[in-house]
Amino acid sequence: MAFSTLLVETRGKVGLITVNRPQALNALNSELLAEMNEALDGFDRDPSIGCIVITGSERAFAAGADIKEMASLTYPGTYIDDFFAGWDRVAARRKPMIAAVAGFALGGGCELAMMCDFIIAADTAKFGQPEIKLGVMPGIGGSQRLTRLIGRAKAMEMCLTGRMMDAEEAERSGLVARVVPAGSLLEEAMKTAETIASMSLPIAMMTKEAIHRADEVSLSEGIRFERRVFHAMFATRDQKEGMAAFVEKRKPDFKNS
Ligand code: HXC
Repeated sequence: MAFSTLLVETRGKVGLITVNRPQALNALNSELLAEMNEALDGFDRDPSIGCIVITGSERAFAAGADIKEMASLTYPGTYIDDFFAGWDRVAARRKPMIAAVAGFALGGGCELAMMCDFIIAADTAKFGQPEIKLGVMPGIGGSQRLTRLIGRAKAMEMCLTGRMMDAEEAERSGLVARVVPAGSLLEEAMKTAETIASMSLPIAMMTKEAIHRADEVSLSEGIRFERRVFHAMFATRDQKEGMAAFVEKRKPDFKNS
């Protein structure tokens, strides 16, 4: 399958998506959104894929939704089309996803990074929600995810001023999991993805699902959900294998069952 806005490849058990609209600093347009979901559908269907990495270029992960495409949209039109609803499908993916961010991750670009399960940032990364300068606000989850990740004070400041945050501040604030030198961003992200993909896929997916529940429910409901999923894991072959391998001092051979 050929894509015109993305480079899509499989490296072992990792699916790699590189946003590729260099002429527009990887701005996210409708074609790119459709292709992103198509690429992710392909990785979902492929049982050998255990983790997905989304990255951009050295200069920009993505400089936001495509302003030139949005400029003339209307209220009834965006309402009828449920404009941007396709991004909910990206955010709802069940396999683990890592964003590897270098350069600008602004507006929808920052929001796409936050849809992933965690962000590994190059030391050149710059995050921001500058939509207010365009007379709009974050529209694909930024007002909610940024607030959950970095807290209300910083989220308010970022969204109301539109200022950018560098990688060091992003790590300190809890927006990114780790900052690495720009030259080794992809290598580090792939290494991390390979580690995740070497685990049992159903167990990794259930772990991801449990952590995401924390955004939705109270502590006691979240712990109840965790307990139920934990109990269910004893029905898997991979739990038996993982624990037997520890006892027998060998590497586990997970079969995703
Ligand atoms: C369309 C964009 C773009 C964008 C950059 N470009 N960002 N095109 N949509 N979001 C294009 C520029 O028009 C230019 O094209 C080319 O990419 C290079 O950009 P420059 O501005 O020349 O680069 P530079 O001077 O280095 O500045 C980089 C920048 C700036 C600071 C990142 O491009 C910028 O501020 N971009 C917009 C960032 C932004 O506001 N993002 C939020 C979008 S709204 P030409 O053809 O002139 O060479 C959003 C909403 C989310 O994301 C959901 C709401 C519903």
